[in-house]
Amino acid sequence: MRRTPLHEQTVVITGASSGIGRQTAAHFGHFGARVVLAARNPEALAVAAREVEDAGGTALAVPTDVSDWEQVAALADAAEREFGRIDTWVNNAGVALYGTIAQVTPEEIRRVIEVNLLGEMYGTKAAFTHMRPYGEGVIINVSSALARRSVPLQSAYCAAKHGVSGFSESVRLELKRHHPGISLVEIMPASINTPLFAHARSRLGAMPMPIPPIYEPEMVARAIVRAAERPPREAVAGRSARLLLNGQTLSARLVDRYLLFAGKGERDQHSRRPDDGTDNLFAPSAGPGSTHGDWNDGAPNGTATTRLAVSRPARTAALAAAVMGGGALLLRRGRH
Ligand SMILES: NC(=O)c1ccc[n+]([C@@H]2O[C@H](COP(=O)([O-])OP(=O)(O)OC[C@H]3O[C@@H](n4cnc5c(N)ncnc54)[C@H](OP(=O)(O)O)[C@@H]3O)[C@@H](O)[C@H]2O)c1
Repeated sequence: MRRTPLHEQTVVITGASSGIGRQTAAHFGHFGARVVLAARNPEALAVAAREVEDAGGTALAVPTDVSDWEQVAALADAAEREFGRIDTWVNNAGVALYGTIAQVTPEEIRRVIEVNLLGEMYGTKAAFTHMRPYGEGVIINVSSALARRSVPLQSAYCAAKHGVSGFSESVRLELKRHHPGISLVEIMPASINTPLFAHARSRLGAMPMPIPPIYEPEMVARAIVRAAERPPREAVAGRSARLLLNGQTLSARLVDRYLLFAGKGERDQHSRRPDDGTDNLFAPSAGPGSTHGDWNDGAPNGTATTRLAVSRPARTAALAAAVMGGGALLLRRGRH
């Protein structure tokens, strides 16, 4: 089916005040799209909206808390009122919580599920409701590599992301059968250099950090914009994410052992930076915000990485098998 060209599209993006969402908004702006930006921090949203306009797009900022259905429905109404229809909807808003299950509170667990899972479910429902009369559109749900393989210290986050995967798979089947012009895409990024880790609530006694290698948000933004034009079923952004997923398929037990080896799965998420005690779990981020964090570790970026992961599954599976084989050897040697 022919998709609406990007310069004619109206795109709603949640979590557009920071990181991946904000970078994606600017990318759509570059193509001349009409971009509706949603998040809670009005100051950062206004700056992000200016970035869209500077890039060549048209912007509308709508302060929204995605954990509240009424607000998500109002966001969709505002987009349609302003621009006539919605072509693409990107569910991207997210929060992070670091700590063992003993350390995190029931209120914190609930909040992560409300924002990261219910927020995407509400966004999908609102988007569908507005796309249905036209019989076409693309819904893009940003989950994570952790949607398929959990790590320690992020149990609520991993649960929410697994939930997004399961939810998306179910709705995709409904759409394919009853509304084939509406696509649902899941995007699974690897570790990305965004303010997510500064925004996270941490019980680690330190600021958390992305598990290396760390890619830049432009890579995910490109994958999302591509999906709006030619929607795949799902896309993995970052070769390390594909390796993790392939490793999980080959042997979940071996990945367990890799993550447990010398406490690697936990150590890799502790930074040496102090935690400043601020986070955006219950209240919005403060200030003008940004697209990037300061975790650049020089990992290779660019479309080649994503393309390899997305379009050469056999080769990446072989690579993963090799890496996992190497990991198994190391583990065996470590025991002797
Ligand atoms: N960075 C990574 O390594 C990584 C890896 C895989 C997947 N992801 C996923 O990518 C998405 C974007 O994350 P990011 O890395 O760009 O983090 P980020 O820079 O912290 O951005 C998160 C965005 O979500 C918004 N948000 C949080 N709670 C919200 C709520 N209740 N209602 C509306 N907006 C809310 C934040 O803005 P306000 O505070 O202004 O509301 C912000 O705009 C998330 O779903 C995340 O799980 C990230």
